[in-house]
Amino acid sequence: MSESTIESILHENRLFQPSAEFSQQAAVKSLTEYEQIYGQAKADPEKFWADLATTELHWFQTWDAVLNWQPPNVQWFVNGKINISYNCLDRHLTTARRNKAALIWEGEPGDSRTLTYAQLHREVCQFANALKQLGVKKGDIVGIYMPMIPEAAIAMLACARIGAPHTVVFGGFSAEALRDRLVDGNAKLVITADGGWRKDAIVPLKEQVDKALANGQVPSVENVLVVRRTAQAMTLTEGRDHWWHDLQKTVSAHCPAEPLDSEDMLFILYTSGSTGKPKGVVHTTGGYNLYTHVTTKWIFDLRETDVYWCTADVGWITGHSYIVYGPLSNGATTVMYEGAPRASNLGCFWDVIEKHGVNVFYTAPTAIRAFIKMGEEIPNARDLSSLRLLGTVGEPINPEAWMWYNRVIGGDRCPIVDTWWQTETGGIMITPLPGAIATKPGSATRPFPGIFAEVVDLNGNSVPANEGGYLAITHPWPGMMRTVYGDPDRFRRTYWEHIPPRDGNYLYFAGDGARQDEDGYFWVMGRVDDVISVSGHRLGTMEIESALVSHPAVAEAAVVGKPDELKGEEVVAFVTLEGTYSGSDALIKDLKSHVVKEIGALARPGEIRFSDALPKTDRGKLCVGCCDR
Ligand code: WTA
Repeated sequence: MSESTIESILHENRLFQPSAEFSQQAAVKSLTEYEQIYGQAKADPEKFWADLATTELHWFQTWDAVLNWQPPNVQWFVNGKINISYNCLDRHLTTARRNKAALIWEGEPGDSRTLTYAQLHREVCQFANALKQLGVKKGDIVGIYMPMIPEAAIAMLACARIGAPHTVVFGGFSAEALRDRLVDGNAKLVITADGGWRKDAIVPLKEQVDKALANGQVPSVENVLVVRRTAQAMTLTEGRDHWWHDLQKTVSAHCPAEPLDSEDMLFILYTSGSTGKPKGVVHTTGGYNLYTHVTTKWIFDLRETDVYWCTADVGWITGHSYIVYGPLSNGATTVMYEGAPRASNLGCFWDVIEKHGVNVFYTAPTAIRAFIKMGEEIPNARDLSSLRLLGTVGEPINPEAWMWYNRVIGGDRCPIVDTWWQTETGGIMITPLPGAIATKPGSATRPFPGIFAEVVDLNGNSVPANEGGYLAITHPWPGMMRTVYGDPDRFRRTYWEHIPPRDGNYLYFAGDGARQDEDGYFWVMGRVDDVISVSGHRLGTMEIESALVSHPAVAEAAVVGKPDELKGEEVVAFVTLEGTYSGSDALIKDLKSHVVKEIGALARPGEIRFSDALPKTDRGKLCVGCCDR
């Protein structure tokens, strides 16, 4: 975070009320109503969630107990039977939503496709049957390495339909990063595409899968299912690789949704932590379905005719919860965009909004800062009058960017929901409810009903208003992660042991620094651990350090995030070299490409500095400005 951002966060006190017109039509209409709901949830959280689970979702069988909390292990809706793909698809087919657009896809270059609920249901059933035909059974883990095309969502829903947990790996990750995630998850099958569009180039995804699987590096993978997207040359390995369009011709479109246990694993999603290896965050079915459903409904204030667009990639949690599961569970029309703003098409986001009449738009502060640089004449040249509500996610938004977003994109009429949450939390935790809570630029405002958040010190004591501390959640919620895949100790250590239990009550440690102001508004300042955020993408410094030391020239490496006006933070690496090597521009270039090869372009260091020695703590650990944490 830049100093000017910290400065403005500390001194920001503008208050923006939603318009009376917005509030009157909103799901939650006033601060009083929010406080009532919040109070009810606080008085009896289990009743609050159980009532919503009953009214908002379809269950094959109801639960025996709402909550089983044996810290840090949690179960929600114990013994309930549910299927999230049923809730996202089948239940809408008997209503007027049957022929409503479920998914509007804008592809590059200029491709476009709309799937109604009935059509999406049909494709998901076929895809699920194809998976079954390839031997995938309930409990088998399926890797998904896809571009932003409808089949990415179809594949996720197909897995969910048959109870095969998915692990989506962002298409920008390298073959090495993909391999590590498939190995850790013991994936049985990989779904990919021949290629995908990223900016103006084709990314050869299938080729990356081939590299990841080469020489038996991932012995668990038996089959690869390939969707045709870009039609460039690639090879299919006989017996292992299958075209989706070939299988589609052979499978039935009838595939009933499997009644799954509430606590059956829905997906693993890998995310960076402060130690080396990315961790597999595990989410289960019932609680996640409920949590993403209700947060989508109230925070994005969805109306039946809305067109809703979240610009994330399905490779991240935002794409899981707020492109696919939350919106579809609500029967909304969700937009999926394969492109990204780039020099050759600076106005592409605004074109999508204009073309499809987007009403609710959810993006990242990094994108907003990039748009500011491009100049407001670009959005001004488009008709953005369909927009009613705006959202941001992923990193703190500097008030200047907030004000620009509000004025230039929102036309001073759209509330902005600045939503704080994490891969681990499953859904949004701290956010305005747009018709109820006045916003302050840079603050995620107040917790969602049923979420009990506090700023505490490391002894678990609440800190006074306007003092900095650690963001903690004091009561379990349905969307919370269940464990780190294959490493329950790491789960306990990372989230439940930084703060000691308070009167026997365990506190979830989010890893973010925050303060609460005199109105109870939360101001999230950023990570307090070795996680950095580059363009809103979460990276562990140790992950990048490990990538660097795997290069033969590097003896030791220390990575830090340097504040960057556009990207939030930029990767800076300090490196000491092995005896026979000396620093040069060519080596810098080589080390940067090495990191790209090991992790992906998102981790490319902006700067590499050679150094004779790196600072160490007295216990011999590398230390770059972290000793005070
Ligand atoms: C940061 C993304 C400030 C935070 C959904 C968190 C934010 C990390 C906000 C999680 C926000 C996310 N204001 N910071 N509105 N939203 N963050 O797992 O540091 O990719 O811990 O989940 O992003 O990143 P993740």
